[in-house]
Amino acid sequence: MSTEPQEKLGRRDFLDWLVALGSTVLGAAMGIPALAYLWPAAQGGTSRSVEVDGAANMAVGDSKVLQVGGKPVIVVRDRAGFKAFSAACTHLGCLVRWSAAKQEFLCPCHAAVFDKNGDVVSGPPPAPLPPYDVKEAGGKVYVTVT
Ligand code: FES
Repeated sequence: MSTEPQEKLGRRDFLDWLVALGSTVLGAAMGIPALAYLWPAAQGGTSRSVEVDGAANMAVGDSKVLQVGGKPVIVVRDRAGFKAFSAACTHLGCLVRWSAAKQEFLCPCHAAVFDKNGDVVSGPPPAPLPPYDVKEAGGKVYVTVT
């Protein structure tokens, strides 16, 4: 009596299970980021205001990236006060950083450059960095994202 047919069936079952597992992992790897991308848009219409921690200690030229309502925001202090913009590049969403020396926002992903007002200077972004409201009250700084 041979056990070979049962063993082949076991290998086939294992391969079927492995393919199903791989498909599930691949589907989750592709589907979860897509849902995470769409989720904030589905929430819509809410505005959120937060205090910028340590704003009083920011020198002219300093910047800070924070999350407001689940959105990345970059706050810059210049001679006139504080400004805030979306920190997500309008090309593919990489986080921009502030160059105090050049007075520009730089995107490391595809070398985009935005001026100090968030307007596109060069690179592939199709739109400026969206500005956000900044209010100073009682020595504190608040950013509001809509
Ligand atoms: Fe910023 Fe492409 S993501 S230039």
